[in-house]
Amino acid sequence: MGSSYYVFLQSLCSFIFILFILVESADDKKSVTASAGSATNVTKHLFFPDFSSANNPRLTHDVKLLGSAIISEEKSGCVQIPDLSQQVDPRQLAGRAIHSSPIRLFDPFTQTPASFETTFSFQFQTNNSTEIFAAGYGAELDGGSGLTFIIVPDEFTVGRPGPWLGMLNDACDEDYKAVAIEFDTRQNPEFGDPNDNHVGINLGSIVSTTTINASDIGVDLKDGSVHRAWITYNGQMRHIDVRLGPEGDKYPSKPAFSGPLDISPFLKEYMFVGFSASTGNHTQIHNLLSWNFTSISQASLRVPSDETCESKIIIDNSEDGGMSINRTSNSFMIFMAIVILLLAALICYYYNSRRRGISSNTSPALPDKKQRPRPPNKPRRFSITELSSATRCFGELQILVADTRGVTYKGTMSNGCKNVAVTRFSTEFVNSYGLDRRRLAKEIKAISKIRHPNLVPLRGWCFDRNEVLVVYDFMPNGNLNGWLFGVGVLPWTRRFKVIKDVAEALSHLHSKQLAHKNVKTSSVFLDVSFRAVLGDFGFVLSSAESERFESAVSQRADVFEFGVFVLEVVAGRRRRSGPDGGGPDLLEWAWSMHERDEKVKAVDRKMGSVVNSEQAVRVLDIGLLCTLNENRGRPSMEEVVEFLSLERQVPELPPSRPVSLFPYSSTTGLCSGYSCASFK
Ligand SMILES: *[C@@H]1O[C@H](CO)[C@@H](O)[C@H](O)[C@H]1NC(C)=O
Ligand SMILES: *[C@@H]1O[C@H](CO)[C@@H](O)[C@H](O)[C@H]1NC(C)=O
Ligand SMILES: *[C@@H]1O[C@H](CO)[C@@H](O)[C@H](O)[C@H]1NC(C)=O
Repeated sequence: MGSSYYVFLQSLCSFIFILFILVESADDKKSVTASAGSATNVTKHLFFPDFSSANNPRLTHDVKLLGSAIISEEKSGCVQIPDLSQQVDPRQLAGRAIHSSPIRLFDPFTQTPASFETTFSFQFQTNNSTEIFAAGYGAELDGGSGLTFIIVPDEFTVGRPGPWLGMLNDACDEDYKAVAIEFDTRQNPEFGDPNDNHVGINLGSIVSTTTINASDIGVDLKDGSVHRAWITYNGQMRHIDVRLGPEGDKYPSKPAFSGPLDISPFLKEYMFVGFSASTGNHTQIHNLLSWNFTSISQASLRVPSDETCESKIIIDNSEDGGMSINRTSNSFMIFMAIVILLLAALICYYYNSRRRGISSNTSPALPDKKQRPRPPNKPRRFSITELSSATRCFGELQILVADTRGVTYKGTMSNGCKNVAVTRFSTEFVNSYGLDRRRLAKEIKAISKIRHPNLVPLRGWCFDRNEVLVVYDFMPNGNLNGWLFGVGVLPWTRRFKVIKDVAEALSHLHSKQLAHKNVKTSSVFLDVSFRAVLGDFGFVLSSAESERFESAVSQRADVFEFGVFVLEVVAGRRRRSGPDGGGPDLLEWAWSMHERDEKVKAVDRKMGSVVNSEQAVRVLDIGLLCTLNENRGRPSMEEVVEFLSLERQVPELPPSRPVSLFPYSSTTGLCSGYSCASFK
């Protein structure tokens, strides 16, 4: 009797447990629905307690020096502008030290600047060695022009020396917008400077919008001591607070300036932050000793790709309707679960007590099948019901992308991996395998074993009668199409990073004898930190009999498609521009630019002048190289990675377009470019 009691208790416990899970998942869905479309805070933090390369081996990578600037081991590591380590005329020099990656400081969708906080210590030095130097060149010794904290749109412009503080230069057209806080030690009445010891706030102009007399707050910038500045900007309130005091002292209780300031007209989405300084006929060394920077930008986590039906997303976003339906269906589900579980418990109880009646001497029949917890991230098989409920019965509102291979839905799981993307392959796609669907299953399982930071993790699969589904992690920032061809302009540095990320992902896949088979802009996603991850695998199998041959053929096709992808990213153009795939083919166009030696013109103009065009053309060359015939110099992905990281010289392209390059015209179908690119 006691034992059957035990079985009953156990059933009751599992019932309560499952009920608990159901209720939780219902809650979970609610919160996801409510937060869908809302913004998330992306924090970026830079910290340089000093600028000693011994303490920070990545220093030369993280800090980009431009013009006359040097990282010196003096003062336990500091940035010095100008660079007087060589015997040069110390007058009329300008330099910059910029953090090498761009930082998202503006949200173009809400037109809101990011909030940031920065503090740094600096010192203006006119020491004896400078004096000796300066004297040789007849320079006066009462101080250089000053130092600025700058927010600039690129990482290669150096501003003008002298009173320009290295902040702006002649070539700076209207496109070049900079925000600066200057610590100015010269009085230039033509720029409205009040004295030779002031702090100024500059918005796109060398003439400050606000100046502060540093003597008023008891600071003498030129006294040779180490000063510390604190700048706090609140993007939502559009408010700035600047404080200045001696290094080592407490945070000054009184701000040097505190007031409203809208910097948004001077920001692009991505900006570079750092410092600039200059000398004029008067000279001094500007030392930057430490720097701490934190920004919080609001990223709206829902960037619709153009393939997504936008109206659907908007409907999905209007919460109330969806939520009430959701809630009723959840309560219904809970009710059903209770009924089923009660029945199961009763049957179990009955069955067990009967069995005990038959053989009362055997050890208690504890259920053997305990629910064994599985590691949450291990790819696994899903049931069709699980995926159906995750995607609200493959509801239209859940559709993310649809193409000839199938439809991808957004789903929400209750088992730990919360948001997923579920690709349900079309019947035509599955049927095209005929009886060979086992190969497809094998391929999917092989891919799911691969982990790489630039590959979207595959969470699992489902093979159910005629259905084949694949479950991926959901990528909240959407695919590259939305960023490349949508609102706003993706800056060059970011594009270059995306290309490198994708090349590394492919190289890794190929090293495992696998291929992606669907390389295109819509298969590349950006994660929350804007790293590119490659997903949406093709799983297309060529008719090649041997597996090894199949994988080799597909890998070469991947390289070809990667080449086209590179052209799309650099040129900011779709492969086929017209509505029905008309218009000039990007590949043909890019080759003709190469023949005419006008590749610079193929670089996306939307990026403005802020492109490292030499680098962009080199990347374009790599893209074209990938589209060459296999036996005429198409590289492997491993080689491409080396070209991109400058470890290997990019080979010369043939002077003109090889004739047999474009034998295909198909734009749709399972093998867009694939079969055609591979079987040449
Ligand atoms: C984001 O940060 C702002 C302050 O900068 C804060 O008011 C807001 O609540 C934060 N939002 C989230 C989702 O954390
Ligand atoms: C700098 O030079 C002056 C003389 O020109 C000398 O008196 C002073 O001690 C020197 N300072 C340092 C730190 O060497
Ligand atoms: C700056 O402040 C100092 C000390 O308060 C004062 O003597 C000087 O006249 C001020 N200069 C200007 C231009 O206001």
